[in-house]
Amino acid sequence: MDDSKARAVTSLAILGGTPAFPEKIHVGRPNVGNRERLIERINKIVDTRYLSNSGPFEREIEQRICEMLDVRYCAAMCNATVALEIAVRALNLSGEILVPSFTFVATVHALQWQQITPVFCDIDPRTHNLDPRKIERLITPRTSGILGVHLWGRPCPIDELQAVADANGLALLFDAAHAFGCKYGGRKIGGFGRAEVLSFHATKFINAGEGGAVVTNDADLAARLQLMKNFGFSGYDNVISIGINGKMNELSAAMGLTNLESVEEFARSNRENFETYQDHLDGIRGLSLLRYDERNSPNYQYVVVEIDARELGLTRDQLVSVLHAENILARRYFYPGVHRMEPYRSCYPEAGLHLPETEALAGRILVLPTGAAVSSTDIQKICAIIRFAVEHSRKILEALPGS
Ligand SMILES: Cc1ncc(COP(=O)(O)O)c(C=O)c1O
Repeated sequence: MDDSKARAVTSLAILGGTPAFPEKIHVGRPNVGNRERLIERINKIVDTRYLSNSGPFEREIEQRICEMLDVRYCAAMCNATVALEIAVRALNLSGEILVPSFTFVATVHALQWQQITPVFCDIDPRTHNLDPRKIERLITPRTSGILGVHLWGRPCPIDELQAVADANGLALLFDAAHAFGCKYGGRKIGGFGRAEVLSFHATKFINAGEGGAVVTNDADLAARLQLMKNFGFSGYDNVISIGINGKMNELSAAMGLTNLESVEEFARSNRENFETYQDHLDGIRGLSLLRYDERNSPNYQYVVVEIDARELGLTRDQLVSVLHAENILARRYFYPGVHRMEPYRSCYPEAGLHLPETEALAGRILVLPTGAAVSSTDIQKICAIIRFAVEHSRKILEALPGS
């Protein structure tokens, strides 16, 4: 692949060549951390038969998260989707909540599942996050809150959102599924708004297989979260509130704790991967790598590129087809925007008219593979394929069926 001059374009897998990678390379292959420590913890679980229900590892992970994120309270949960639902329920939110459409569908499903109407607000194309200038006009007498998403681990414009929330008596909360370990204004993500929700899904920076948490500095809210995640039980036989099963089980907590011990190593390897991409994608016109602000201590979990099809010579989707044929499973996150997915597409068919930036960004974004399981050599190979495909875009388009 290095000798791109000598290479025939037909060697690309999309044109009949052998895929560059024999196995599929996924965007986020899970981090494991120290295997011995994980096995030690699993042995303890098996020895004690303590599998769930406020077990020692669930309590330990809550404490560790509080220490690491400088927050007072943490309720560990089974995943971030349920954690979001419990958070909005514990905050007693209803009516309408303002939310971006440029996010993973779970952010919005969590609201809809709680009978709350999601009102989509457009994003700022520079930050990919909620545009605070567009929030105020969407507020109605039914609005009870704003749910911001720190997309890619890059913080929302928190001060501006907080000002709008305060001026209008709204609760501000955050989906911080991508932002473990990141900062805003020198402070760790986790302590902003009324509450923030973390994800420890397998593909996340810190994973528990499946897992999530709500973090907050509000003692009353924290107590309600703990009740609600455990069916509303307050001691044996005494249910004092509506609840659900949102608990984190011990195996997940063991995985999560093990991951937390390697947080610096994961951040370092993500950063090295990011820098390798940066070096090897440099100078490709029409392809720009999304930058992170070092002051916000990014976790570099996502390598995001934006495609300008006219300059690149290939559309984003054509480039995706080239990469998928090579077994590089780059993803179009978060395409096509939640407002174009059901049930939102049918409920709000006009939503796209008010979301021009979301629609445009969803059409030009691409997320490339990273994580500890992707080597520098893999990344160089991925970049070389992109560069080669771009250099031969005309020939590729001519050779593709239907062109
Ligand atoms: C922004 C965002 N919010 C919420 C979720 C849901 O997290 P979980 O899978 O832990 O429910 C995800 C990803 O899974 C996500 O990317």
